Amino acid sequence: MNPKTRIDKLQELIEDHNYRYYVLNDPIISDEEFDNLFRELESLEKAYPKLSNYQSPTQRVGASPIDQFRTIEHQAPMLSLANAMTNEEIIAFHERILRTLKTDTINYIAEPKLDGLGVALVYKEGNFLHGSTRGNGIVGEDITHNLKTIRSIPLRLRKKGKEIPSLIEIRGEVFIEKGEFYKLNQRREEEGKAVFANPRNAAAGSLRQLDPAITANRNLSIFCYEIGLIKDKNFKTHSSLLKALKFWGLPVNPLIKTINNYSELIKYHQDLERKRNGLPYEIDGSVLKVNNYAQRDKLGTRSRSPRWAIAGKFKAQQATTIIKNIEIQVGRTGALTPVAKLEPVYLSGVNVRNATLHNQDAINRKGICIGDKVLIERAGDVIPKIIKVIKNKSENKIKPFRIPDTCPVCKHQIYRSEGEAIWRCVNITCPKQVKAKIQHFASKMALDIDGLGEKIVNQLVDQGHLSSISSIFSLVHDKLERLDGFGKKSAENLILSIQKSKKTTFSRFVYGLGIRNVGEYIAKLLEKHFKGDLKKFSDTNKEELVAIDGVGPIVAKEIVHFWSDISNKKMVENCINKGVKITVLKQNTYEPLLDQIFVFTGKLKKINRQDAKEMVNNLGGETSSGVNKKTNYVIAGSGAGSKLKKASELNIPVINEDEFLKIINDDIMK
Ligand code: IVH
Repeated sequence: MNPKTRIDKLQELIEDHNYRYYVLNDPIISDEEFDNLFRELESLEKAYPKLSNYQSPTQRVGASPIDQFRTIEHQAPMLSLANAMTNEEIIAFHERILRTLKTDTINYIAEPKLDGLGVALVYKEGNFLHGSTRGNGIVGEDITHNLKTIRSIPLRLRKKGKEIPSLIEIRGEVFIEKGEFYKLNQRREEEGKAVFANPRNAAAGSLRQLDPAITANRNLSIFCYEIGLIKDKNFKTHSSLLKALKFWGLPVNPLIKTINNYSELIKYHQDLERKRNGLPYEIDGSVLKVNNYAQRDKLGTRSRSPRWAIAGKFKAQQATTIIKNIEIQVGRTGALTPVAKLEPVYLSGVNVRNATLHNQDAINRKGICIGDKVLIERAGDVIPKIIKVIKNKSENKIKPFRIPDTCPVCKHQIYRSEGEAIWRCVNITCPKQVKAKIQHFASKMALDIDGLGEKIVNQLVDQGHLSSISSIFSLVHDKLERLDGFGKKSAENLILSIQKSKKTTFSRFVYGLGIRNVGEYIAKLLEKHFKGDLKKFSDTNKEELVAIDGVGPIVAKEIVHFWSDISNKKMVENCINKGVKITVLKQNTYEPLLDQIFVFTGKLKKINRQDAKEMVNNLGGETSSGVNKKTNYVIAGSGAGSKLKKASELNIPVINEDEFLKIINDDIMK
């Protein structure tokens, strides 16, 4: 047989066996036979490299690591789902749909809500072109190299059965099965690496790898459930689309069902909740969707979620366990938080080992002691809570646990302000606070000092080389070289990243200062208001601060309190003296587009959407993904859809790309 024919045949055979194994769960050859086919293909492709191609099964893991993630704009926004927390909310959803559509029967598709990561897969002429994460819903990260390692994702759509569209963007959820998650964490524990908190984090961490060889090792899975765009093909119903996806070789969840009335909706949801723990993968609810696409169009979408679907959330899962110990953690602001160390117990996707006890009042209220059997609960991503004590260790109700009278780290006095439930360590040089402050300052969203992680900071503080944020900028090579696990090279690298971090922005620097209640968002508001001027910021007062839209009295009080401490002013001065430079963002002295909201729809020709949005932001305007009353302009490119209709309903001006550029240019020229 000529090599080309054999290579084509082998590629098809191998993908077919992958499909049988990973999608149908019905292999018809042994692993050994499969390996033989694979090896034959590998050696033929090696001998005839020109005959190998991107869609070959040998290329699933072969790609080399990438330097950084590129971005991909989704063909249509990747929306999220509104939640129904109770049966009543599911019924209300159903009734709203009946009212809007003026009908009394409706056909639904009910699906499990998979607890993984939403992804978009684009196939062009049936070949896997690229895939991305959800990102901000408009633009995601290009993770093609990693998605290719998931063997249940076909590299070519199977052409048998149904014709394939020239272009299709398929949405699905990537996840890791519970068994694989356990194995992965076990492996990591043995290797002394940090374990993943839950399967979703493990899947996310695996997909966001620069090196596809790591992802390939993680055994990820996928189920597909929607499309973002399809060309040359039309489906009338979701059930027919799901059928086609299966035909094309994409994994579709087997628990998906057609439902005809609302009592069945509730029953599906409840049945699924009962099945939840027995499933090999994590789900956190059901998704109830209108089946008919014409009806979906009539119902339309809100800015972030469609009106034709809802996520029925499961009740928080509960479990019982024993409190083995109670430890006091000292935070960045000196807050003492009691944390219960639990007998590990599996609860909605996680092995729970810790639960926060919040403060002394909460402990008293629940009467918590070490050794108690307690009922714990975890809702979604939230840290587990202790609901109540089921059985006190001592039958005659011993006294609840008491927070010690001094800081467990530095033994200094503790205090609590009037009206506050939290005790704090008074010692601002408490090593635990100092370490946490430095770590925060060096963290990704602050100065982003690569290499200055928890372990290094702990060592540097313990050995007296670091005592405050500004002392970071006095670190020298020879001190670093003597640290555990440090050599010349790593010391040089750290010094380099410290140097690099000195050029920063106002919002990063201010966020890094760790002022209570000043997160990234508030830091950005302050940056805008103070136009990057730290001096003005440090001289501010409560009245000025509360006048900033988005800044409330509590934040204002904390900021004023921070600057009232002379040592904080000194520390910031030290940073500046040691070379920290705040780059003032290109901010116009006037903001002609202030408070104006722009919505883009369709494809732009002259500029890309990201740049267009940046232009709007630079002139003080805002962009949004959905049209509503507040929208000022809709910019329509080719292929614009439902947003135009919405704009005309609301009487919002629709302009084209040239008109948009004219507004921008006119404002820049002014
Ligand atoms: S439909 C606009 N179906 O849940 C429709 N999403 O909270 C949105 N998800 O971002 C997608 N299972 O990542 C849909 N069967 C399912 C799903 C599902 C999980 C995720 C998806 C989405 C998120 C919304």
